[in-house]
Amino acid sequence: MRDLHRIERETFLRRVEWHDEFDSTNSRAMALANEDGIKVPLLIGATRQTAGRGRGQNSWWSADGALTFSVLINPVEFNISPQHLPQVALITGLAIAETLEALLPMPVQLKWPNDVYVEGRKICGILTEAPAGRPNRLVVGIGLNVGNSMQEAPPDIRQSAISLVDVLGEAMPTRDDVLVSLLKHWEQWLRRLGCDDLDFPNVWQPRCYLHGERVSVTIGPEIHTGVCLGLDTDGVLLLHTETGVRRILAGTVRRL
Ligand code: BTN
Repeated sequence: MRDLHRIERETFLRRVEWHDEFDSTNSRAMALANEDGIKVPLLIGATRQTAGRGRGQNSWWSADGALTFSVLINPVEFNISPQHLPQVALITGLAIAETLEALLPMPVQLKWPNDVYVEGRKICGILTEAPAGRPNRLVVGIGLNVGNSMQEAPPDIRQSAISLVDVLGEAMPTRDDVLVSLLKHWEQWLRRLGCDDLDFPNVWQPRCYLHGERVSVTIGPEIHTGVCLGLDTDGVLLLHTETGVRRILAGTVRRL
């Protein structure tokens, strides 16, 4: 059982709701985003998700021991303007990287726009969703592999993902410790995003997993190939293609 009061006491959240089992915490947070009078920031967590969602049409696999939760925030409370909303995923990745780096002996890297990698394997995915017609609501969903060993995962995931327990073995922090630390780092980054124009080449790029690599970027029906040049000042991906440097606002990046 989680210590929900501790999480409320030690972090910037106003309310924490935890379920033993839920279909998708992002779906729950999106539904609540449309209700009036909900206290935010609100965290919705689940020990088990039966229909966890990833980006696009992907599903999100997790097993017992994973940390799966969504936070409903009001970006206006953090002074985050609508044009900065796409950057929330980027700073969330930074907060997760800092949290994990305090625990792990190796660097933590970021794959644009919102995956976190350790040793070439994905350890965490982030799914941000903005409910239509509600400019003062944003849902940020985080799936972090903590105590769910990849030995229990389906074969394709076992090859491409990693978990904290796979690296740390018995020397594991509790999920609550990881969650509290992550939320503290994240609050700082949200406040920084609200008051500065963050210089993404400076703050994000040193962690860029695919910098200098040949990649493909899928944007709907289009596929662009080129070399990943890292980020522009506003967090947009720069791709060096045969026809010049292209700014990529959204898309799925794969190493070639
Ligand atoms: C991705 O890498 O495609 C994003 C994965 C996001 C998964 C998390 S788990 C908690 C929250 N609830 C969901 O249904 N999805 C997000």
